[in-house]
Amino acid sequence: MKKLVLNNNVEIPALGLGTFRSEGEGAYKAVLHALKSGYRLIDTAAAYGNEEAVGRAIRDAGIPREDIFVTTKLWKADLGYMSAKRAFHASLKRLGLDYLDLYLIHWPGDHDENKRSWRALEDLYFEGAVRSIGVSNFSFHHLEHLLEDAEIVPQVNQVETHLYLQNKKLQDFCMANGIHLEAYAPLLSKDVKTLLSDETLGKTAEKHNKTPAQTALRFLVENEIVPLPKSVTPSRIEENLNVFDFELEKEDFDALRQLNRGKKTFPDPDNFLV
Ligand SMILES: NC(=O)c1ccc[n+]([C@@H]2O[C@H](COP(=O)([O-])OP(=O)(O)OC[C@H]3O[C@@H](n4cnc5c(N)ncnc54)[C@H](OP(=O)(O)O)[C@@H]3O)[C@@H](O)[C@H]2O)c1
Repeated sequence: MKKLVLNNNVEIPALGLGTFRSEGEGAYKAVLHALKSGYRLIDTAAAYGNEEAVGRAIRDAGIPREDIFVTTKLWKADLGYMSAKRAFHASLKRLGLDYLDLYLIHWPGDHDENKRSWRALEDLYFEGAVRSIGVSNFSFHHLEHLLEDAEIVPQVNQVETHLYLQNKKLQDFCMANGIHLEAYAPLLSKDVKTLLSDETLGKTAEKHNKTPAQTALRFLVENEIVPLPKSVTPSRIEENLNVFDFELEKEDFDALRQLNRGKKTFPDPDNFLV
């Protein structure tokens, strides 16, 4: 599996499995199948309610723990210094693990809450309980305020990113600050059928003998954005990983770049109330 290097020299797999809306036994089977198929990055969150199943699959997969990159997230209701630390340890316990590879602030609160929570994540990092820390759904102003007092620059910002919302400006800002983008909803989430029936995407996929899903994911991988496609379907889990044996050409990029239209399927972080 291809890897990228974060700003603290920790390596992250170039693509991972998402688990939003994967529940119970379905989440367990999906994570197990993904790990056996070659995935080495698993993305979950306290809010998904599946940390126990995800952790059990990670432990049952028979793969050394250090070969798997595990991410979970601090829910918005737990923002704050003490509450973030408590939430981190509760997640770790549900996962049945003794450290995490990446812990993210799931959604921004106000700037003070973000800073207090960030201080907790930094302390967890310094204690060695987590190998890298980051944020999710942070736009420019959230990052600018966080960076004012941060001792550690976030390693990752996980945001909705796909062909219809390419986030080039945010990526440039993040890259300039050493922050890597992860793409959530890389297949347009609930609107997956709309993306996968896009004519331009279909033509590009056909040219490379690949599926539209593989081509949409490859576009992100080649842009050094880590996609986190979710699936509970074994054949799709395998299909989505099989994106490392072809390369898009300049004309493909030019065509796919044109698909950007600022389409968001998840809430705007500034107007997302729990
Ligand atoms: N940080 C955040 O706030 C945030 C928000 C949303 C998501 N995320 C993370 O990002 C991950 C991905 O986002 P997402 O789950 O919303 O959406 P997504 O990965 O873009 O799309 C998932 C949907 O696409 C279907 N699918 C997957 N592969 C396919 C393929 N090859 N062909 C056809 N259909 C396919 C899945 O169906 P089946 O499962 O039925 O196969 C599912 O309905 C999440 O699971 C989660 O880990 C983070």
